[in-house]
Amino acid sequence: MCYSIPGRVVSIDGRTIIIDYFGEQRRAVNEISNLKVGDYIYAQGGYVIDAVPDAEAQEVLALWKELFFELQERDQHLSGFKRMDKRAGDRLSLILERIVADEEEVAEEELLYLLNLEGKEDIARLMQAANYLRHKHLGNSCCIHGIIEFSNYCRQSCGYCGISARNKGLKPYRMTPEEVVKAACEAIDKYGFKALVLQSGEDSAYSIDNLCQIVSGIREREPALIFVSCGEVGLPGLQRLYEAGARGLLMRFETSNSRLYEQLHPGRRLDSRLEHLRAAFDMGYLLITGGLIGLPGQTREDILGDISLTKSLQAEMYSFGPFIPHPGTPLANSHSPAAAEVLKALAVARIVDARNAKIVVTTSFETLEKDARRQGLSAGANSVMISLTPDALRREYTLYPDRAHLNESLENQISDLLEILSDLGRAPTDIGVSHTAS
Ligand code: 5AD
Repeated sequence: MCYSIPGRVVSIDGRTIIIDYFGEQRRAVNEISNLKVGDYIYAQGGYVIDAVPDAEAQEVLALWKELFFELQERDQHLSGFKRMDKRAGDRLSLILERIVADEEEVAEEELLYLLNLEGKEDIARLMQAANYLRHKHLGNSCCIHGIIEFSNYCRQSCGYCGISARNKGLKPYRMTPEEVVKAACEAIDKYGFKALVLQSGEDSAYSIDNLCQIVSGIREREPALIFVSCGEVGLPGLQRLYEAGARGLLMRFETSNSRLYEQLHPGRRLDSRLEHLRAAFDMGYLLITGGLIGLPGQTREDILGDISLTKSLQAEMYSFGPFIPHPGTPLANSHSPAAAEVLKALAVARIVDARNAKIVVTTSFETLEKDARRQGLSAGANSVMISLTPDALRREYTLYPDRAHLNESLENQISDLLEILSDLGRAPTDIGVSHTAS
């Protein structure tokens, strides 16, 4: 299975190139030398990751062509927005009509009103408007990232987290750098992944040299967009990882409420987290960030603050998932939020960053709600992650209990996901940001 469509280079201006995909033009950053107009490339997250020989590109495009238009049509059909009866003139209709028309900015107080919706039908209408915006601005592409969780050791004591240093009931594991490189290369070569996240707890056993060895080891062997997700590695560490070939950072700020942040992360400060994220962005990293939904003591104002903060950090991807209490943590007796809270947050994130956001349906949401992928992708989301961590280890990566997909083989996970995407008319590919998008 191929998770990218080859694009044809139509113009080159320094590092910026414009690529054509079946008539749609997208912009990307190119770091490959000798690229010419007319060449075919694979891009992910706005980066060119590989040149594709003409014959191979033609073959893949021929396979895709019919399917691509068929999927587009299905998505178009499913993402229509039913205009309301104007006479009704209720507040929700009036706000949503303005949102889908991309009229003026939506006021903060209106976004909060949307997050506060309670009725099933009202929430369904909000999701429909968000889905309409996703389709209108970003089409039917849905990026699929693979994630390898290579160590569950963590020196931090986050109050909600099942792999925190405080949880003594954990069966610890570490993959060696060679094992991580091997798993990553297999995911790229055998299963066609083009974007990978390398995640671990904050584990001092891996030096920055070790982490760089992993990143460069993968990049030397296979083309892929690599995100690192190993917590706060320090700014010099981030710089070295970038030089080793990492181009993305997945690090949530967890909550934008600094008081709540400090309660949940003993001895740590939100500012330091944000400094990491901002510095990473300045270094050139794509950011995947966001927060937890439904933390004890969190308000809907906080959630709106989290969404706004994600936008102000210029995140490439929004990652918002429900808090799920873990029995080995101080929050064992707290409750998860209702699935509707997550759907509302995804929809409001789409409205806040309609033109650019990639929004992921997280595994924690899939754990909370069996039908999360279909629902989340119909509420403005356009990205999914699949865990590539070897089965026996994945069971021990217990951020929260009863994680989704634990007993499914990778092949089944991929085929189930492709079926969902096909039903929804989504193309399992990342064709990047539109050339004309602001
Ligand atoms: N429920 C949901 N998500 C959690 N994470 C950690 N613990 C939990 C939990 N109990 C998330 C954090 C972290 C990511 C790796 O996992 O948001 O950033």
